[in-house]
Amino acid sequence: MSDKASGHEPVDGTSTVTPLIQATNIEVVYNSIILAVRGITIQLGKGQTVALLGPNGAGKTTTLKAISRLITPEGGEVSKGELTYKGESMLAWDAYKAVKRGIVQVLEGRQVFPTLTVEQNLLVAAYSNKIRRSNIKSALEKIFEYFPRLKGRRNTRAGYTSGGEQQMLAIGRALILEPKVILLDEPSMGLAPLVVEEIFEIIGDLSQKESVSILLAEQNASIALRYADYGYVIETGRVVMSGPAATLREDDNVKAMYLGIDESGLRQEFGADTRRKERADVFAM
Ligand SMILES: Nc1ncnc2c1ncn2[C@@H]1O[C@H](COP(=O)(O)OP(=O)(O)OP(=O)(O)O)[C@@H](O)[C@H]1O
Ligand SMILES: [Mg+2]
Repeated sequence: MSDKASGHEPVDGTSTVTPLIQATNIEVVYNSIILAVRGITIQLGKGQTVALLGPNGAGKTTTLKAISRLITPEGGEVSKGELTYKGESMLAWDAYKAVKRGIVQVLEGRQVFPTLTVEQNLLVAAYSNKIRRSNIKSALEKIFEYFPRLKGRRNTRAGYTSGGEQQMLAIGRALILEPKVILLDEPSMGLAPLVVEEIFEIIGDLSQKESVSILLAEQNASIALRYADYGYVIETGRVVMSGPAATLREDDNVKAMYLGIDESGLRQEFGADTRRKERADVFAM
């Protein structure tokens, strides 16, 4: 793997590298009262895959939405700290501008239009974001190359496709916007292990071949740390641990809390997956 650590050099003036995305000590408040993120500092370097890990309600989705700027229509705002893209402040941007600049979020829960076909879902994403028509055909072909399963289902209504195919479609809808940064919220949610593996395999491929940078929120720390370069563990709105993915994988606290492995090295029954929340809640939009 190439040296993709550049996004994690110190940003105190000693580094000459500007990370693609830099959140510095950000706080995020919903409806002016609910403090969901309490001072998070994270970086995403070019071509990197960075994982945000942590339990329910930790602030992973909120952090992604702060960056995609989807936080504003949710009634939230970054009330403190700085957020930059290539060194430029994003705080005054709306979500449309973020997409135009190449920052695209794939929402938690596979948001697709169930009555439209797979191909129509991709086209709607392209048209509603004013992607040039001349680019759309080749973008479609590229998506079908990465996701051959979608190609086979291109004329099927999205609502009739499997959970894994819908997750692939949700990622495809982001890809058609020719992103530089994909913010991916819990792609493993509710999917069988083999499908999760297949999706992460494709995401890994994408990040390498297309040099897309990926910021990934996952409760499934085991898979996220296998594919990510770097990880942050977030609890109650704060980063409590961070480091290269390989280091986090070996950390005893991470092993015990997020990988379900005890001191003797045995995998316990409880683990990231058993702590997953029931999803019929306010986030199901
Ligand atoms: N739209 C909203 N309005 C008010 N509070 C919210 C909203 N979205 C999230 N919150 C609150 O912000 C905190 C962080 O939630 P967030 O969804 O970011 O966590 P998460 O780490 O993504 O959790 P999960 O793993 O369950 O998806 C929680 O206390 C949550 O209740
Ligand atoms: Mg979430």
